[in-house]
Order: sequence, then structure tokens, then C-alpha cells
Amino acid sequence: MFPIHRPRRLRASTQLRRMVQENTLTASDLIYPLFAVPGNAVAKEVTSMPGVYQLSVDKIVEEAKEVYDLGIPAIILFGIPEDKDIDATGAWHDCGIVQKAATAVKQAVPDLVVIADTCLCEYTSHGHCGYLEVGDLTGKVLNDPTLELLKKTAVSQANAGVDIIAPSGMMDGFVTAIREGLDEAGFTDIPILSYAAKYSSAYYGPFRDAAESSPQFGDRRTYQMDPGNGKEALKEVALDIAEGADMLMVKPALSYMDIIWRVKEMTNLPVAAYNVSGEYSMVKAAALKGWIDEKKVALETLTSFKRAGADLILTYHAKDAVRWLNE
Ligand code: PBG
Ligand code: ZN
Repeated sequence: MFPIHRPRRLRASTQLRRMVQENTLTASDLIYPLFAVPGNAVAKEVTSMPGVYQLSVDKIVEEAKEVYDLGIPAIILFGIPEDKDIDATGAWHDCGIVQKAATAVKQAVPDLVVIADTCLCEYTSHGHCGYLEVGDLTGKVLNDPTLELLKKTAVSQANAGVDIIAPSGMMDGFVTAIREGLDEAGFTDIPILSYAAKYSSAYYGPFRDAAESSPQFGDRRTYQMDPGNGKEALKEVALDIAEGADMLMVKPALSYMDIIWRVKEMTNLPVAAYNVSGEYSMVKAAALKGWIDEKKVALETLTSFKRAGADLILTYHAKDAVRWLNE
């Protein structure tokens, strides 16, 4: 009798489909990125990212409450400083914008997990993720001197109340350096979420508008990874595990689903996927034109990250996704 196997049997009704669904998206999986700017009552929409705003600290606090009330467990903070310089002072200064925002959020919504992106590109005058040789116009960041700045930045973020440190600069040894810095300062219990496999990607374009962090010259290819490489991601991940990372991130997400899967297969640490700005903006743009169904596309994409092995998803769609899930 043909066919014995009829997979459609288990797809016959909503209830059956619910019973056999392998991966489910929930609010607990999501992390919402926020951009802090100086000032008061500032909410400036990012042109290339409809629905995403640069927010002053008071507005960040309002947003944090909303995020928490939706059941999203965490935010990740990026900062746009008043001034930029070659030492990235705005990144590690105790009165830095991320420090201020973190302290205010932890005071207003203590149970919301606050993650800090620990990098320097938003704070350097040239827009690279660390120190450059004087006169360098290629963007070949000096690794070891930059580690000192990252260490200082992480400690200052922890002092401000940040719960998780997420270094994103792709410097060699950054997990070791930051772990040392945190431990020496007494923050032995603050986890590190390492951007372990971060690719040099054109999908970061809209983010660089949002964070005003475009490199003024050169590119990030001497520190971020080549999109053609897969095994190298596993090398980066292995190093970060050895250096004591508590969680690992793959970024971007959509073009790198295979990497998410391979990383998940090789480790028992939680894996995060960053559904980056360009991925968000493409969906938004097509939806605004009426060419795709934003809700369905976004939920399908986010669920696919879960299927690929992501335990956590950083996404600008987080708030919408939870509202849609609750409908
Ligand atoms: C900073 C950083 C970037 C993103 C997160 N942290 C951009 C970059 O490397 O230029 C990208 C996030 C996004 O595109 O949404 N190093
Ligand atoms: Zn950076």
C-alpha cells in the first residue's frame, strides 16, 4: 500500500501542528537593542531604520519599562557620545552615555537585564574599533593597546550597573582581557557574551547611521571576519570558550545560519544570533512598499534562528514580535 508514510497526517489541524512544532519563538528569547544619545526628551528616528530611534536617557528608561512589561528579558545598549576622540573617552568614562543610561534603567527597572555592547567605534573620531597607528589611513587597529581600553570600558560599564558585558570589536584576546579587568574590579559574577564570530558585513550599514559609527576611512576587514569563512568562525569560538566566554554570538544572522548551527553543535554554551540592522531594514522597506507581510516574514525569520540553534536573538523587531505573538 503506497504510501505508508504520510507526513501530512501531523499537519492536519492547528492543534496537531502545535503539538509537533519543534521550535517555538517566545519573548524570553529576545534582546532589544537601544541607542542612547545625550540630551533630554530626544527621540530621533533613524532614517534607514523605521521604528528605531536614538533616545535620550529619560526616553531609554520609558522604553526599558515597555520592553520589560512585554516580557522581553533584556536590552543591549549602544551609545552616541557628545564628543569623539582617538582614545574613545566616551566609551570608558564613568559619565559616558551608556553608563548613564544603564544606571538610570537599573534604577527604574531593576529586573530588566542590561547588556552593554563593549566596543569603541562609536566613540573614536575615526570610527574604528580601537587605537590606530598615527597616520594610518587603512584602519588596521592596534590589537594589544586596544585591549586596555576595552578592559577599562567593561569595568566602567559594570560599575554603572550593567549586568552582561558584550565585547564586539573582534580584537584577539578580548575575552581574556575583559575577564581579567572585571575580576580584578570584583565583578567575578558578570558574564561575558562574546561577539565570537562577527563578520565584516554590509548588513551593518543602517546600524552605522543609527550609532554614527561608520569608519571615516578604510574598512573593518583586518579585524572582522571574511564572509567566505566558516571554519574560522569555529576557531574564533573555540578561542573565546577557552578564554572564558559565558555566551557566544554569531553576527549577522540571516546569511550566517550555517554558522549558528555549527557553533551550536560544537558547544554547550548559549548561542546568540544578531538579526542585524540591514536584515531589519530590508524587511521594513519591502513591507512599507506593500511587497511582503512584515509580521509573517519577521516571525518566520526569528523562528528560523531558533531552528538554526540560536538560544537568544538580538533583534530590532523584538517589541513587535512579542505583540504579534500575543495576538
Ligand atoms: C560595533 C557594532 C556593530 C554592530 C553591533 N556592534 C557595527 C559594526 O561593526 O560596524 C552592528 C549591529 C547592526 O548592524 O545591527 N562594533
Ligand atoms: Zn566597533
